[in-house]
Amino acid sequence: MSSILVTGGAGFIGSNFVRHWLAQHPGERLVNLDALTYAGNLESLADIEASPDYRFVHGDICDRELLERLFLDEQVEQVVHFAAESHVDRSITGPDAFIRTNVEGTFALLDTARKLWGANPERRFLHVSTDEVYGSLGPDEPAFTETHPYRPNSPYSASKAASDHLVRAYHETYGLPVLTTNCSNNYGPWQFPEKLIPLVILNALEGKPLPVYGDGRNIRDWLYVEDHCRGIDTVLEQGAPGEVYNIGGHNEWTNIDIVQRICDRLDELAPGERPYRELITFVKDRPGHDRRYAIDSGKIQRDLGWTPAHDFETGLEATLRWYLDHRDWCDRIRSGEYRDYYRRQYG
Ligand code: NAD
Ligand code: DAU
Repeated sequence: MSSILVTGGAGFIGSNFVRHWLAQHPGERLVNLDALTYAGNLESLADIEASPDYRFVHGDICDRELLERLFLDEQVEQVVHFAAESHVDRSITGPDAFIRTNVEGTFALLDTARKLWGANPERRFLHVSTDEVYGSLGPDEPAFTETHPYRPNSPYSASKAASDHLVRAYHETYGLPVLTTNCSNNYGPWQFPEKLIPLVILNALEGKPLPVYGDGRNIRDWLYVEDHCRGIDTVLEQGAPGEVYNIGGHNEWTNIDIVQRICDRLDELAPGERPYRELITFVKDRPGHDRRYAIDSGKIQRDLGWTPAHDFETGLEATLRWYLDHRDWCDRIRSGEYRDYYRRQYG
């Protein structure tokens, strides 16, 4: 029986994708390869771990021997590659892991696929990337299209840009049937609470300061994670090999607007002693902080018929309620290493 190999399936988007795939493609085997770094958590997949279509493999995408064995044993015909170091702030204080996993790990996967698949047009290698590779937009500039020049500004985005270039080169040089998606900021269930939205929700509930970098006017384009997962599935099934598809929600918000919005809704859902807005604290800016991201998702909408199903209102409401209902999960994953990281980052 052939398989789809998902890398990084125990992380935020990966675990949502694994759940999406098993629900949408019953009877198709999925192998999840994840190193279980601080960001990977099998508890996020507890509800599907007994599925007969699912296998988890604890391992590193840089381990070429393991990759080759998996490709052969599991007859891997499709790869969806999420595994990465994904947090910009960590890439500023410790870039090594980003170069290793994002660049060397992607290279190891691509080269294994090239060796075992060649240019077989029946195979698919989908590389999940980010809008951050395009750099920062001015206030009136049009949103990023797939042909926007690459101008990464953080070690994280530079490592993702390098991986995108390798993916492209493996198509141009070896004919590997690759697809690349560049997506905007995701939010939703199972996101590790070092990223803005879950961090603000949990800090508010614990009465801790809500750290807003710089003047809080940086803009991100937010997409509900399930819409991203559907987008990836759509590109995998219908995308043309060698093509790039931008995925985004046409949903730009300044950070401060989001933080205030979360505070106001939490005042209704889980009121504290004082309005949560009083916890907002402006802190030192992130070095190299990109001012604005915005994705033009016209190509995937026109060519493949994908559109987001969630607007920010419904997506944020679902996210808030999910974090309110999953405090145990949050407490468990924030123990140990995360506490050290939080002290280093916020003092
Ligand atoms: P995440 O940090 O939540 O999860 C990353 C997963 O990769 C974890 O489960 C981790 O254990 C695993 N991993 C890390 N190094 C590994 C290695 N060497 N071998 C095997 N597994 C390893 O990340 P996420 O937010 O779910 O992002 C997933 C992908 O989507 C990344 O490639 C990221 O660049 C991209 N992306 C993320 C966003 C976003 O807003 N989160 C937006 C666009 C694109
Ligand atoms: O755009 C896609 C990218 O979105 C993905 O490629 C990355 O993997 C993902 O982490 C995310 O990157 P950002 O840097 O945009 O996300 P983050 O949640 O870290 O920050 C969102 C914005 O909020 C950003 O402008 C920085 C700001 N911020 C973040 C944190 C953690 C704060 O103001 N305070 C904070 O404490």
